[in-house]
Amino acid sequence: MRLLVTGGCGFIGSAVVRRVLRTTDWSVVNLDKLTYAAEPRALEETAADPRYRLVVGDVADAELLARLFAEYRPDAVLHLAAESHVDRSIDGPEAFLSTNVVGTFRLLEAALAHWRTLPEPERSRFRFHHVSTDEVFGALADEDPPFRETSAYDPRSPYAASKAAADHLVRAWWHTYGLPVLISNASNNYGPWQFPEKLIPLALTKALAGEPIPVYGRGEQVRDWLFVDDHAAALLAILGRGRVGRTYLVGARAERTNLELVRTLCAILDELVPNSPHRPHAQLIRFVADRPGHDRRYAIDPGRIEAELGWRPSRSLEEGLRATVAWYLAHHDWLVEMRARYDGRRLGLVRPAAAGAEPGGTER
Ligand code: NAD
Ligand code: DAU
Repeated sequence: MRLLVTGGCGFIGSAVVRRVLRTTDWSVVNLDKLTYAAEPRALEETAADPRYRLVVGDVADAELLARLFAEYRPDAVLHLAAESHVDRSIDGPEAFLSTNVVGTFRLLEAALAHWRTLPEPERSRFRFHHVSTDEVFGALADEDPPFRETSAYDPRSPYAASKAAADHLVRAWWHTYGLPVLISNASNNYGPWQFPEKLIPLALTKALAGEPIPVYGRGEQVRDWLFVDDHAAALLAILGRGRVGRTYLVGARAERTNLELVRTLCAILDELVPNSPHRPHAQLIRFVADRPGHDRRYAIDPGRIEAELGWRPSRSLEEGLRATVAWYLAHHDWLVEMRARYDGRRLGLVRPAAAGAEPGGTER
């Protein structure tokens, strides 16, 4: 099996590549533009593996895609490349349209042209798996049932809208041209190697430095947390055994408010770093200006993937968070280095404090 992965140097993509090379005999070509969010060091263990190759390039580059498909002749595509951070999409949506929408379109075009050249049985076995997000379904009220595969699309942020557009394109290529596609929509991932612009590594970076931990609004929004390796396992199950043309929602039934989650992280830090001068770390939590259009709640009903594919998360949120905090403690230098890459002020990511935010609350 020859697998073309896009965005394989990102947080989730690197977990997928590591898993494929550890658990299968497949070969992998990873097409990645190496944006600020990429971390090739997450794939250090693959360096000596002749089955792995990195191609640095843009998923929206039609010429490069044509060459890559012709030369490599993949049996499947696992499409993860994306601009993935909601706050960045609010401050600069264009890159989200270029990569998430145009990039997905170009990849579909290249995959279709390649698929049409395949003889049987390769043609029937080919898969185009598009990796998407629960954010395409919009926001739930506290009393609503979780998202299901049949939930209506209702994206709110430029990021979510760009991913929704990509999902629609992928489905259109299935219905119109017969390209054998799969789509999965997952909840918030956490784990090692996540760029510290996202809540968990950002909160840990701040807490370890004794700086204020920014919680948007009053921390009442709810997210449903999924360990990244469990997501990688789900993606491989869907790619291998998912029904063509189907959507699978992936989540671990682990809803928490942001405030609960950050307090849990602080408590784990208190325990794992007993001599920290910043204990109790929860004293560092600050309510700051809310994200515009901040979705209240995401939650996933993973009933289909559980029943059809037998997938289950391998650990509870508490176990996963503990392992994650331990990993970031062991990789503190990496966290500091990555955080230095993230110059929020230069990117204009600091918004004025909302009414009701606590004094000094614009710290990000
Ligand atoms: P990430 O931001 O950590 O990594 C994205 C990767 O894509 C990076 O390596 C980057 O260099 C690459 N990339 C970006 N633009 C590219 C382009 N034009 N051409 C080629 N490569 C490009 O993202 P992530 O958190 O690992 O998310 C991966 C995928 O999973 C995305 O499609 C995202 O929408 C989806 N997803 C993420 C989450 C989550 O919680 N992080 C949850 C559900 C779905
Ligand atoms: O739901 C899946 C999505 O999860 C993915 O599609 C996205 O790619 C991924 O980034 C993530 O989106 P979120 O916006 O939920 O993740 P983020 O880590 O940015 O924020 C999580 C929650 O924490 C959200 O409600 C906003 C809040 N937050 C975030 C940051 C960065 C804070 O309170 N403070 C912060 O500093």
